[in-house]
Amino acid sequence: MANRDLHNMRESYDAFSLLEQDCDSNPFKQFDKWFQQAVAIDDLEPNAMQIATVGKDLKPTIRTVLLKSFDENGFIFFTNYDSTKGKQISENANVALLFWYRTHQRQIRIEGVASKTPKEENDSYFHSRPRDSQLAAFISEQSRVVESRAILDERFKQKEIELQNQEIPARENWGGFLIKPSLFEFWQGRENRLHDRIQYTKQANGIWEMERLMP
Ligand SMILES: Cc1cc2nc3c(=O)[nH]c(=O)nc-3n(C[C@H](O)[C@H](O)[C@H](O)COP(=O)(O)O)c2cc1C
Repeated sequence: MANRDLHNMRESYDAFSLLEQDCDSNPFKQFDKWFQQAVAIDDLEPNAMQIATVGKDLKPTIRTVLLKSFDENGFIFFTNYDSTKGKQISENANVALLFWYRTHQRQIRIEGVASKTPKEENDSYFHSRPRDSQLAAFISEQSRVVESRAILDERFKQKEIELQNQEIPARENWGGFLIKPSLFEFWQGRENRLHDRIQYTKQANGIWEMERLMP
């Protein structure tokens, strides 16, 4: 393996800042502001986020998914409910989300509780996807072992022929999760590693409290 000098790999962060007076008191609006800025600067897949889940074995797992919508009700992504993450969420609905915006030197952390989105919403989003994506979701038992790539391709091809000229039925085990946040943290890289960290926590009365954390 090539000898990479990881010790000397470091970026200095000095392009932006996050001061209290610039933060929206509503964390969803603050998220929207940063998200729109990431979209505007053409960050690659700004809606890609990592979601961490922990099942009853208490072992955390994490993977990337695509955020498909958000508003003040929460953040929605779609998946297979029988996948590893789906099973873990059914055992423990507490999850954490992470967005990293490389160009702006920003990170957003969200903690919250996940619940399944209604079937009508799942079906309508399923049918809005490209036909090949619908087919792939239909034939894939996500996160199960498959003997070979060839078997996967064959499964896809067979279904394609079988369902020719027909609507691909939405599956019961495919749908969205809505994550309702109880915490947001907005991290802005700053010079000398004195980064800005603004955390919002939801109080019992529904008001969001904003605090600065040490870097
Ligand atoms: C950029 C990117 C986007 C992804 N989007 C999704 C998604 O929206 N839904 C999904 O189920 N998996 C998505 N995946 C695949 C997941 O990372 C993961 O491999 C899969 O969901 C199985 O995870 P699990 O076994 O932990 O349940 C995406 C992967 C990448 C790299």
